[in-house]
Amino acid sequence: MFILGIETSCDETAVSVLEIEENNNSVRIYPRANAIASQIKVHQPYGGVVPSLASREHLKNIPLVLEKAFQEAFSSFSEGWKRINLIATTTGPGLIPALLIGVNFSRALAWSENKPIIGVNHMEGHLLSFLLPPLNIEKEYSLPLTAFPAITLLVSGGHTQLVFVKKIGDYKIIGKTRDDAAGECFDKGARILGLSYPGGPAIAAEAAKYRKHKVNHLVFPISSNTEYIFHLPRPMINSSNYDFSFSGLKTALLYLTQNLGEKKTKQYRQVLSFELEEAITDVLVEKALKAAEEFRVKSIILGGGVSANQRLREKFRERIENEKREINFFVPSLEYTGDNAIMIALAAFFRYQKNPRKDFWSWKKIKAEANLELE
Ligand code: KG4
Ligand code: ZN
Repeated sequence: MFILGIETSCDETAVSVLEIEENNNSVRIYPRANAIASQIKVHQPYGGVVPSLASREHLKNIPLVLEKAFQEAFSSFSEGWKRINLIATTTGPGLIPALLIGVNFSRALAWSENKPIIGVNHMEGHLLSFLLPPLNIEKEYSLPLTAFPAITLLVSGGHTQLVFVKKIGDYKIIGKTRDDAAGECFDKGARILGLSYPGGPAIAAEAAKYRKHKVNHLVFPISSNTEYIFHLPRPMINSSNYDFSFSGLKTALLYLTQNLGEKKTKQYRQVLSFELEEAITDVLVEKALKAAEEFRVKSIILGGGVSANQRLREKFRERIENEKREINFFVPSLEYTGDNAIMIALAAFFRYQKNPRKDFWSWKKIKAEANLELE
């Protein structure tokens, strides 16, 4: 079957076409189009996503992105509509002004083309994105999927969650952030250090420069008789639960830079970025590994924008290898770590398989929900 995916929960307008087939004991996944209009440039001057601007950009771009996806996947619009069996649209969580554009656009398409439509939780999309092969490459998995049960670490700009995944569709959030998300900590940290939005890639690039040159910036004098050592806290790393807290880490960085002053902050930007990345990734890795052990799962899976972070991936691999843990480790390929609509189409597929009744999935049931919970 062919699924049209639509995603506008944050600052990417995304439309996809996913071809997917379930046979007796396997599922064949074949991404056909992954069109995305990024709004990074629009939000960059503000250092974060401005909801009203996001909404305006989605409205402007969504028909163009739809057209691009159809061009990539089909010979014509009419041919495309003949082949599409299902529409998948992100209904939450996300920014309401942004979500509403994609949701209403999708509902209108479902109504006018008389297609079934499934509302998808954006976080379930991130959770399943590790299954996706690159564009125009086919991948087959035998069923039931061997990755599960798993602990999934979902790390994005708005969320940080640890999820116990018994199987697809059976999710239990065992921990989440009490304040800022991991991605938000990267973004706010970048702003403090005078780096551009989105902060994650900017911090990672500065940290990589520090690691490469291995200059010993870790200790340096700030006055004649004081040694100042860069160290940021690892909040809640040893707490007895699976929750996270990143806002204190951001504040600690802020105080550190205030003590240093503007000139020294700029001078030591690489090492400060390094320490921030180390602190965030240390906490994420520690908690996910602990959860994997307690829940005796077969895999650790990453998803969400922050899962693009190479240091995070490396730390997981090192710990698993060094500690000889018998566990699989799965990450999405880089084109699917950020927001995209292929992951949304994939999540809709598994819902549809459980209940393949065309008339059940009506546009009348679809509505946007800013705080939609994964369940
Ligand atoms: O999943 P996503 O694209 O959007 C949301 O649903 O929020 O995640 C965006 C977040 C941003 O906070 C961005 O700074 C972060 O992912 N990010 C990274 C990296 N690439 C993106 N964080 C750390 N390292 C990266 N390489
Ligand atoms: Zn996301």
